[in-house]
Amino acid sequence: MKIFLDTANLESIRKFNDMGLLDGITTNPSLMSKEGGNPKDAMEEITKIIKGDVSLEVVSTEYSGMMEEGKRLRQYGENVVVKVPMTPDGLKACKSLSFEGIPVNVTLIFSANQALLAAKSGAKYVSPFIGRLDDVGQNGMELIKEIKEIFDHYDYIKTQILVASVRHPLHVIDAAKIGADVVTLPPAVLDKMLQHPLTKIGLENFLADWDKLKSGNPDIEI
Ligand code: G3P
Repeated sequence: MKIFLDTANLESIRKFNDMGLLDGITTNPSLMSKEGGNPKDAMEEITKIIKGDVSLEVVSTEYSGMMEEGKRLRQYGENVVVKVPMTPDGLKACKSLSFEGIPVNVTLIFSANQALLAAKSGAKYVSPFIGRLDDVGQNGMELIKEIKEIFDHYDYIKTQILVASVRHPLHVIDAAKIGADVVTLPPAVLDKMLQHPLTKIGLENFLADWDKLKSGNPDIEI
């Protein structure tokens, strides 16, 4: 399963990229707004740091605006995937951009029907928002299972399931068990995945024992 980071924060992107963990990045207007400044600078920098796919989202709501913005966004790099909302105009733009060889991520997916239609329009990725479904009392992970089952029946569907709106590490394990193609994670979730209290205690004990050995013979080194 590929891991993308769901952020426009350059510090987090560099931190996890240096550990070799990132296959790509997803952003959206809210994440851009959270960082402040000029989003163009962030887009330029992110597409330089990350070799894999970087989703940059349009803000137009009608077809021609989405097409213009999509083509402008694509100029940031060959790794740019244009993110469009799951609307009739979004699907029309998805079809046209995909036809022109520009990959598209259809976002704000909340049902298997929407995922199926986005795949038919040529989307490279569909982004079901599981956390937001959980928030309203629907099981987000069940939607991932349903989409996976449907896509697996049809060889012609090459669209990848990109699990979005992930809130905690258990979401990641469950998505991996189902066989989702990608999860996009907020930096805080990836941080939690790295940690275990027994790792911390184990390391403290190793170092304390090493200090004990060294106190008897200060010349010892590795
Ligand atoms: O990738 C979509 C994601 O950013 C939405 O997450 O936590 O705002 O539901 P959230």
